[in-house]
Amino acid sequence: MCGIVGYVGDKNCVPIIIEGLKRLEYRGYDSAGIAVLNNGNSIILKNKGKVSFLEKSVEQAGLSAHIGIGHTRWATHGIPNELNAHPHCNTDQSLMLIHNGIIENYQVLKTMLKKSGIKFLSDTDSEVIPHLIDSFLKKGHDLFEAVRFALNEVEGTYGIAVIYTKEPNKIVCAKKGSPLVIGIGENGHYIASDVNALIAHTKQVVYLEDGEIAEIFADRFSAKTIEDEDIQKEIIELTMSLDEIDRGGYQTFMLKEIMEQPESVRNSMRGRLIFEEGTAKLGGLESVLDRLSHSKRIIISACGTSWHAGLVGEYMFEQFLRIPTEVEYASELRYRNPIINEGDTIFFISQSGETADTLAAMKEAKRKGALCLAICNVVGSSIARESDGGVYIHAGPEIGVASTKAFTGQLTVLALITILLARRKDMSLADGKALYNEFIQIPEKIQKILSLNEKIETIAEEFKDSKNFLYLGRGYNFPVALEGALKLKEISYIHAEGYPAAEMKHGPIALVDENMPVVFIAPKDSTYDKIISNIEEIKARKGRIIAIASEHDTEIDKLVDFTIKIPDTIRMLMPILTVVPLQLLAYHIAMKKGLNVDQPRNLAKSVTVE
Ligand code: AGP
Repeated sequence: MCGIVGYVGDKNCVPIIIEGLKRLEYRGYDSAGIAVLNNGNSIILKNKGKVSFLEKSVEQAGLSAHIGIGHTRWATHGIPNELNAHPHCNTDQSLMLIHNGIIENYQVLKTMLKKSGIKFLSDTDSEVIPHLIDSFLKKGHDLFEAVRFALNEVEGTYGIAVIYTKEPNKIVCAKKGSPLVIGIGENGHYIASDVNALIAHTKQVVYLEDGEIAEIFADRFSAKTIEDEDIQKEIIELTMSLDEIDRGGYQTFMLKEIMEQPESVRNSMRGRLIFEEGTAKLGGLESVLDRLSHSKRIIISACGTSWHAGLVGEYMFEQFLRIPTEVEYASELRYRNPIINEGDTIFFISQSGETADTLAAMKEAKRKGALCLAICNVVGSSIARESDGGVYIHAGPEIGVASTKAFTGQLTVLALITILLARRKDMSLADGKALYNEFIQIPEKIQKILSLNEKIETIAEEFKDSKNFLYLGRGYNFPVALEGALKLKEISYIHAEGYPAAEMKHGPIALVDENMPVVFIAPKDSTYDKIISNIEEIKARKGRIIAIASEHDTEIDKLVDFTIKIPDTIRMLMPILTVVPLQLLAYHIAMKKGLNVDQPRNLAKSVTVE
């Protein structure tokens, strides 16, 4: 969840590292640090808080060098403070290291190293690694070998980068369970935990795989496995551009990403819907299509917002494919010793493609013989690479920690998969074409909802001081209630719960009084009458109601305090629309509370540790 950047080459590494860290700050923002090598000396600067503080110290120190590494931290072991910030070093400060991941046997290693007289300065698990590497340097190994030997003693996950005063022309880096990518430039090489940090400098990248270690110089790089086998790495050309990861005139990334949704959803479906055949074409599934169509059971596994998308997928698959579908938190699936039968397919959904639990659940399911398919946004991410096939979301980079456009993209992809498979089963051509016609109108309908932004901001003003919120929906809109509540919680720190509307009477209704705002997702669908009864029940208890309703529904205005009217569509596509006003509501409430929506407290964009 932390961010790693490094550079060795002709240029001054300091602005490259600071700029790269800013682009990675969405991954972790508790503290930041930089280490460089200059004329045989090591210099380390670090601080608690933002990269902008580090930038100031770097300017004041007039720091400049041709090799360096930088880190932005999301604390796991040890509170966010200067001592726990990375880089960490060995005793004589000749070796500096940044680490992303968790060293699970750090206590054992720390005790062993302490016995040999080593003093630790931080509470982190990471600090054991430079000392461990140092113990191998002292045995006469060079840096690359010392790192390799040290990593053979380490249990857990890591993406690391190391520099050493006695070998001042190289960065050694390695990966297991935390992403790491090498960027190839002219007279310079980069490393980063995320291509966003490299894209301003190069589009040629090499992804390290788990258990691989590399050394990069200004003019070359080479890689091995940590078991010492030589490997040839493939150079990949990135297609994303720098504009995609800038705020583009918006005050926040989150607002930009909400507003981008007409286009991002269009991109998710672009070239994939075929009107004449009333179906979809998904290249990444072609090689597994027969096996997938004949699945006896589908499991969808993910975390957070992606898990909510999976719940919507369950409704889609069961309605149109009649294949039993289960949705599992990846963190539970991986440790539950799941029963995987022949004929099971598991979809793993992940915006980042790096979520530790989702990746581990996929590896476990693969081991048990399931067909493992990925729905990811980040091209070339670990989950995408590990899968047997899959579909990219193509929503473009999502920087705001709260997922918005990735969610609507995930729903779009799940709907495309549904059409594709349903047409291979018993959906008629006419029904496929009707679905196509609904589908292609979705971006325009999202645009219409976005034009309600000011109205939603006014509603947010009314509720910004509320302490609790309930979100209720039925059927396809139950997962949207969960997602609406999650959005509000994570960026406004207001306690919010999502429930299936009918469950309200089984407990949550006890919370309802005049101080409890209740958001109903109540479009005119087959559950409308039932949800109106639920609205009446809340009203009778003086709850304040906001309803997301169909644009032609005039009856509902008489029952609720505020309505947000949205265009109609078919049930399976409705969540792509109903979630948008909930994103805006959460956004405006958080902004009115003066909070940082892009970097909410305690969170990080991709959870690459357990
Ligand atoms: C969403 O707003 C959250 N920040 C979080 O729940 C996220 O969806 C979850 O961590 C899964 O991430 P992934 O999609 O990158 O796997």
